[in-house]
Amino acid sequence: MCGIVGYLGKRKAAEILVDGLRRLEYRGYDSAGIACLYDQKIDVIKNPGKVRTLRERVESSALESIKKANVGIGHTRWATHGPPNEVNAHPHQDASGHFVMVHNGIIENYKSIRSGLAQHGIECISDTDSEVLIQLIAFCYEGNLEEAIAESLKKVKGTYGIVVMTDHEPGKLVAARCGSPIVLGLGKNETLVASDASAIIPHTRDAVYLEDFDMAVITETGVQMFDLQRSPVDREVMEMDWDACAAEKGEHAHYMLKEMFEQPDSIRNAIRGRLDFEMGTAILSGLDFSPRDAAMINRVLVVGCGTSMHAGMVGEYAIEEMASILAEVEQAAEFRYRNPIITPSDLVLAISQSGETADTLAAVREAKHKGAVVAGICNVVGSTIARETGRGVYLHAGPEIGVASTKAFTCQVSVMLMMALKLARTRRMPLNEGEELCRWIERLPELVEQVLAQSDAIKAVAQKYADCENAFFIGRGYLYPAALEGALKLKEISYIHAEGYHAAELKHGPIALLEEKTPVVALLNNVPGKDKTLGNAEECRARKAPVIAIVSEGDEEAGEGFNDVIVLPDCPPCIAPIPTVVALQLLSYHIAVARGCEIDQPRNLAKSVTVE
Ligand code: AGP
Repeated sequence: MCGIVGYLGKRKAAEILVDGLRRLEYRGYDSAGIACLYDQKIDVIKNPGKVRTLRERVESSALESIKKANVGIGHTRWATHGPPNEVNAHPHQDASGHFVMVHNGIIENYKSIRSGLAQHGIECISDTDSEVLIQLIAFCYEGNLEEAIAESLKKVKGTYGIVVMTDHEPGKLVAARCGSPIVLGLGKNETLVASDASAIIPHTRDAVYLEDFDMAVITETGVQMFDLQRSPVDREVMEMDWDACAAEKGEHAHYMLKEMFEQPDSIRNAIRGRLDFEMGTAILSGLDFSPRDAAMINRVLVVGCGTSMHAGMVGEYAIEEMASILAEVEQAAEFRYRNPIITPSDLVLAISQSGETADTLAAVREAKHKGAVVAGICNVVGSTIARETGRGVYLHAGPEIGVASTKAFTCQVSVMLMMALKLARTRRMPLNEGEELCRWIERLPELVEQVLAQSDAIKAVAQKYADCENAFFIGRGYLYPAALEGALKLKEISYIHAEGYHAAELKHGPIALLEEKTPVVALLNNVPGKDKTLGNAEECRARKAPVIAIVSEGDEEAGEGFNDVIVLPDCPPCIAPIPTVVALQLLSYHIAVARGCEIDQPRNLAKSVTVE
């Protein structure tokens, strides 16, 4: 969603801000802007549309502040209140023009604040909820910016990550957060502030994440942190292990393509040092469970959204099957509001690539409030879910920039399998089965390489179906979540209406939609129930729907008679979702490319969904 970047140092702020915004583009946005402060004057350049338009305007600007300033703030806006236009774009200024702010989140009581300001003759000019906050800060200002911000934030309901500056105090930026991430990058003689680490990695690895209700006052002499009562707070400096190049797409046409091809390595990183062959188990030290703690768990609840939820479903199946522990996966937004029954022997696993998804975070808070043991499975180190859960497992997948999640999914499933293995070995799983599963998990990178090697063959299949308007994905058992994920990938990037179904469910309604132009991707690899799925695929064929059969090596006859066949390496059922989803990622990607779609920033989508 929206992105924030701020800079205070010795270098030219405008260049750093625009570059930072480019790095945040993947989050999804529809307008962009920067504000720079020089010689006690603030100038703002903003526009609907792309960062590249903003860059052109900045590069050709004659404004002294844009050319010379060493301090400034920038923003990419993903419209919530009011359409994407110049007035609604950030940064927002107060009526006097002396104060300027960028904001992520939603000010829920913006209408009442706006009418309160109107009573003092202050009129807002945009449709946004954000503008009221900078007007309020200017109204509360009595000579100290952080005091005015603290006063204003006490009146606000909702979520915010903000950075503010004023020409009354030129060498200062003030950042604050509640519910919307803010990370500071501590460089040499400079400080960066952003909503997401990817904007600061090229400049420094030392990062400090603000916690809710923290304020950071950034000046030439360094950073001071306070809470809203102005008491000092101390936050840990973390070292980010991401490489700046990892967030560039290099020679690949798209981030999504690069990230799909990174999967052998990202899985290697996710499993490195975590397989204990001698004991036939997994070492997940971040979970901080003794075998006895693990043995006390009566139920595992997995909460997440979208692709992460699909990875959680694979975990649900694996934990029940291997560890004989009751497991459930739930859409995180539903979890919070349906008042779930939670006991102290429940383990709640929050699964999120970004670690910032508002619905998943809300589920974490609800589960903690109800006394469950909560752990996170996140990719972004230091993200809010990772910090609030306090224990868990990092994916180590590296930065995922493409909005359509790919390498995060395969790493999440790898981690889920290790989690199931660890729990299973404290219960009934014998040593030899544990060793066998370790061996298969270790082979995952190689299996994925075999699938990626078929990219051209899958592209040829994709081109045949690029003009369809509907598609179905069917699977059973461990391949049911894979069917859901395949459909999600296709709809996200190609805008084809796609649905994933349990193969048995097709007959209970969806089959009515089948016709000659509606392909069905049937997941017929070797998992229990394959023969029944084969029967369901035949039912589709009988209704003239073209069938793309995904089969296992050695069982090619399962694909006989169908329109297209993709052969994947044979592996145990719990392993199968990974190679299968990689094949479906490639299929979606090549279809979307053939349709000329925007791959990395699909319409309407945001990489991390930080509002409920
Ligand atoms: C996946 O391709 C999507 N972009 C989306 O479903 C995503 O997985 C979901 O929003 C959850 O995000 P998270 O993993 O960062 O929590």
